[in-house]
Amino acid sequence: MVHWLRNCWYMAGWSEEIGDTGLTRRIIDQPIYLYRLEDGGIVALLDRCPHRFAPLSLGMREGDNVVCGYHGLTFSPQGKCVRNPFAERIPPGTDVPSFAAVERHGIVWLWGGTPESADPSRIPDFSFAEEAPHSRTLRGCMLMRANYEYGTDNLLDLSHIEFVHKRSLGGDGVIFAGEHSVYVEGDTLHSNWFARGIPPPSVAYGRYPPGAKVDHWLDMRWDAPASMRLLIGACPHGEPREAGFELPQAHILTPASEHETHYFWASTRYDNLDSAEVDAALRKLLVGAFEQEDKPIIEAAYANVRGKDFWAERPVSLGVDKGGARARRMLQGRIRNEQAPIG
Ligand code: FES
Ligand SMILES: [Fe+2]
Repeated sequence: MVHWLRNCWYMAGWSEEIGDTGLTRRIIDQPIYLYRLEDGGIVALLDRCPHRFAPLSLGMREGDNVVCGYHGLTFSPQGKCVRNPFAERIPPGTDVPSFAAVERHGIVWLWGGTPESADPSRIPDFSFAEEAPHSRTLRGCMLMRANYEYGTDNLLDLSHIEFVHKRSLGGDGVIFAGEHSVYVEGDTLHSNWFARGIPPPSVAYGRYPPGAKVDHWLDMRWDAPASMRLLIGACPHGEPREAGFELPQAHILTPASEHETHYFWASTRYDNLDSAEVDAALRKLLVGAFEQEDKPIIEAAYANVRGKDFWAERPVSLGVDKGGARARRMLQGRIRNEQAPIG
């Protein structure tokens, strides 16, 4: 049986995904219905009526309340049943579980624990991904048929770009030329690559003259359960990072179930802001890399071990994979702590 980390924020979706009719999404194996209040706030309810289990998302909205489309029970945004069309009395147990949801920088986050224990100060910083006049962000989401921790392995071990992304993002040997460091700050893990004095990598094409030497970094930050930020940057060799450029990306994985993961991604740039051509070319490149390169290899690898315990399969260690291994241990430690009896 899978155990989920409860006291953490799961990305539920991009703000714009919650339209007039709301959004339904499976998160940690529960159907969740997200909709907007009249004041713009966000409600998250279990999308399951306690009577005969119809999805509330198939019902009607009545102001901020939702009316089940099957037999008409009405629920408040807190999940409290406020009307039974067949009697004055509302039977005990008629309320629907609700979740704390917070919208920040264009991302809707869902707290996996009780609403009272939600702590918005623990939402990782993805402020770069917010719509802003000085930047342009592309966003996407795909469903991956693999457990989310296998997605984390992939992202915390970017050595795969030399093989998986040969035809797209192209490592050009930067991984082999780079130094890898993994360290932990509080609950946050960093898995960083730094290559010194190398020819400009593909991401820097056009920014530096032929023959130039640059320093290049790929800094990945991880927060539980699987929210990652990648900073891709380069600067003239030996100069401070500020002399170069940096492109932030979000790679945020939310388990739909043990075997399926919502993979949210975003990529922000600070030039060519109004270029539809750059948008289209970049989207094609990123969607191609994530959907046609990462996703198939992660899904195929996971299919080989689906339902088995990762460590019991005795995965070989190559060193480059230590970020993912560390994240797995940090996550499992926190899940164990949550489940330990108190006192
Ligand atoms: S299933 Fe919702 S009121 Fe019957
Ligand atoms: Fe990748």
